[in-house]
Amino acid sequence: MKKITFLLLMFTSFYTMAQKNITIVPAPVELTVHTGTFHLSPSTIIIANSNAKHDAVMLNFYLKKLYGFSLPVKNITPGKAVKNIITLGLVKQGERKKNEYDMTVDADKINIEGINSEALFYGIQTLLQLLPVDEYSINNHRFEIPQLAIKDYPRFQYRGMHLDVSRHFFDINDIKKYIDYLAYQKFNTFHWHLTDDQGWRIEIKRYPKLTSVGGFRNGTIIGHYPGTGNDGKRYGGFYTQDEVKEIVKYAQDRYITIIPEIEMPGHSSAAIAAYPQLSCFPNESTAILPNTPWAGSRTGKQVQQTWGVFDDVYCPSDYTFKFLENVLDEVMQLFPSKYIHIGGDECPKDTWKRSAFCQQLIKEKGLKDEQGLQSYFISTIEKYINSKGKQIIGWDEILEGGLAPNATVMSWRGEEGGIAAAKQHHNVIMTPMNYTYLQQPQDSVDRDDFIPLEKVYNYEPVPEKLSPQEAKYVLGAQGCVWSEYTPDMDNVESKIFPRISALSEVLWTPKANRDWNKFSSELPGIYKRYAIWGNKYHK
Ligand code: ACM
Repeated sequence: MKKITFLLLMFTSFYTMAQKNITIVPAPVELTVHTGTFHLSPSTIIIANSNAKHDAVMLNFYLKKLYGFSLPVKNITPGKAVKNIITLGLVKQGERKKNEYDMTVDADKINIEGINSEALFYGIQTLLQLLPVDEYSINNHRFEIPQLAIKDYPRFQYRGMHLDVSRHFFDINDIKKYIDYLAYQKFNTFHWHLTDDQGWRIEIKRYPKLTSVGGFRNGTIIGHYPGTGNDGKRYGGFYTQDEVKEIVKYAQDRYITIIPEIEMPGHSSAAIAAYPQLSCFPNESTAILPNTPWAGSRTGKQVQQTWGVFDDVYCPSDYTFKFLENVLDEVMQLFPSKYIHIGGDECPKDTWKRSAFCQQLIKEKGLKDEQGLQSYFISTIEKYINSKGKQIIGWDEILEGGLAPNATVMSWRGEEGGIAAAKQHHNVIMTPMNYTYLQQPQDSVDRDDFIPLEKVYNYEPVPEKLSPQEAKYVLGAQGCVWSEYTPDMDNVESKIFPRISALSEVLWTPKANRDWNKFSSELPGIYKRYAIWGNKYHK
């Protein structure tokens, strides 16, 4: 008898827990919880007509991936009262906001309505976060979903995460995992940093040496810069164009746009190692500092084995511009994104200063100096990309020497670049390194430049210095993961979680709803959700 009472109590308490422990990240705009639950079971039917079929497929994808089962999908049967169903449907925009979905859960049915299939997908992500995280419920198939009503839509149109795959390479399975993490938290943009000094990572058919030579380095420094030694191991990898297509499709299915980054004019050592004519001094060997531990040949152009900023950059020659146009042609064919990121950061001017060709070009074009030449470089590329119907994004250094006419600025050295760009009526994406560079430590154990969770949570992408009119140019913000000291996906996960959840709330949830005390009190539940997602997170 005692045992039965105990079991009954357990059931009751799980029911109550299911009703009270609602943790949806990012927090929705409006949430009203009612009493009672909907019991989801393998006999629950998804009702979706043709325009919601893709979302039904995605719901089943995630049910299978996270819980090991999927549900039958049927068309809407008009006039028939059915129970135990999840309906997915598109509705007219009417009074609804961009990408709004509305969701109700009652005893018989879950209804998710979206103004488009992307909105429906966000509703599905919310539903997935209403499913249990505790072993008891999962093992006993007690999928009790609290009865509720939700109205929800994003605050910012650009909700991004970046990954540097040059310093360390991540295979396509890792990239798919990363994309799913973004999807779970309603991010809509993946900024793929594909080229840098330490490795060129995308197959370009016209220039095979970019990957056969530029995709590999002869070794990597051990420990922190400048390194205690060199591991002497050939390291590299790249994505074939077929793999890129597979990833683009995978992301598209999750309403995530991939913005490829092809760095220029700096951070181009790997491309120069493959095609030395891209340098103003093709016959000079790559400069390697005496204290840099090195593996293999020190002569000729080399893919970098250490971190930092390097002087040998693209020469603004006809050869280079033709090369970049050809590369960008293939890139723009692969990525449907409206934006192409062209880098533009950390380009030392020393090589251009001592190049007779560059000095002559500065005179010929009536430019002020090497900053003007950088601006000329970016504007030339912008013109080409615009001519193909696309837009450029660049790091905030592209402001120096004058902004290219249509460029969007990614403000990383703080917010000043973003503020300046918005005041010039250019679109801005905020990625200030002291808030959103998520490779930085989460706590003070290692370094003093750590970025604690609360700091990310309380980040506000719209600076107070902007007028309401100027603030409209802030499209959103982005978390970045630079991979010098981030060797694999487990390590990425230990760095992004839980700060990516905090950032998702910055980008999605209305400012007035953001509440650090609530968010931090929900962390135990959030960690349990991470366990369902199967990631290594930082506690
Ligand atoms: C950057 O972190 N160099 C954009």
